Amino acid sequence: MFNANHIRKDFPILSRKVNGKPLVYFDNAATSQTPQQVIDVIVDYYSNYNANIHRGVHTLSQEATDLYEQARIKIQKHFNAKFAHEIIYTSGTTHSINTVANGFSALLAQGDHVIVSALEHHSNIVPWQMLCERTGAILKVIPMNADGELVMSEFDKLLSNKTKLVFVNHISNALGTINPIEYIIKKTHEVGAAILIDGAQSAPHIKPDLQALNVDFYVTSAHKICGPTGVGMLYGKEEWLKKLPPYQGGGEMINEVTFEKTTYAGLPHKFEAGTPNICGGIAFGAALDYMNTIGFDAIASYENELLEYGTKKLLEIEGLKIYGTSQHKTAVISFNIKGIHPYDIGTILDKLGIAVRTGHHCAQPIMDFYKIPGTVRASFSFYNTKAEIDILVEGIKKAKMMLS
Ligand code: ALA
Repeated sequence: MFNANHIRKDFPILSRKVNGKPLVYFDNAATSQTPQQVIDVIVDYYSNYNANIHRGVHTLSQEATDLYEQARIKIQKHFNAKFAHEIIYTSGTTHSINTVANGFSALLAQGDHVIVSALEHHSNIVPWQMLCERTGAILKVIPMNADGELVMSEFDKLLSNKTKLVFVNHISNALGTINPIEYIIKKTHEVGAAILIDGAQSAPHIKPDLQALNVDFYVTSAHKICGPTGVGMLYGKEEWLKKLPPYQGGGEMINEVTFEKTTYAGLPHKFEAGTPNICGGIAFGAALDYMNTIGFDAIASYENELLEYGTKKLLEIEGLKIYGTSQHKTAVISFNIKGIHPYDIGTILDKLGIAVRTGHHCAQPIMDFYKIPGTVRASFSFYNTKAEIDILVEGIKKAKMMLS
């Protein structure tokens, strides 16, 4: 039986106070909190195993290497990749996307089309714009509708034999919309193009089966899934990772170096130049273990309950408008109150111990679509409760009274 109050005990930070009030943490789409089980792994690593990997013959180096590679296998199994070497450790989603964008510089020609969606985070827009500038490829955009959904009939029209790459997030960070990625992947492959799915917002809620999805690239960050910041992954099908040139040069990614020519290491090391975030990788594996102990089905159904409850309660506040009203969405509520700047609401909520994100959420095109400067975003996790949503509702009412 799912018991959020019991689960909360795993997260030491949830019992702290902010501005004299118990913390209500509703900024989970920005970063999730870290359970004691993962904190213990981090402490254990630095207390007992800290060493550089792959280089040394000494015991610590071998133990650290083993833990790091075991974590890679945990990540592979969790996402159901075919091979562990298809999992590349990166510093996070942004690094993963840039690795692919850089690699495609060598594979695109002038006039090729690359497609993104109107719902993307800046990290899934800017690297592709830079790629287009380098190659002369043309960026096309799948438009959105007023509910914050992608318009699939327009996507169909954009696809052609000029399309080489499609990049779409699984879930919009700003609105919570769940995009129909199965359809998008299938249609992309029908024109022979490659597809990258940005799973930064979905991995905390949905356990994807990468082989069943048949996606070419999938990227995510550990810190949204109860892991630490500064580590993430790039999944690529073996055939694609072999084709793409490395992003960064340095130690660990080479086979042989002379001043005349360097040959690169095989996968995954070709993409892992320099000393990586070793502890982070190990903790990423521990975070997935933790999430799997709770169970993704239980997480999804409980978070959906929070979403329904939160949506109903917030809509009872006069003048409150929710942005992102798709039937298919995760537990993100982006809203504004008529006549009040989102930043002012966020500041008052903080005084009450409630953490929300305000602003454009690194998704300015979405804000431009709605003709607003930004929103207040409350994003829920499996360790939040309905009682906390009630505190948020009271906080918004108070903010509204003070600001109108
Ligand atoms: N992408 C993160 C967010 O949506 C930082 O807040």
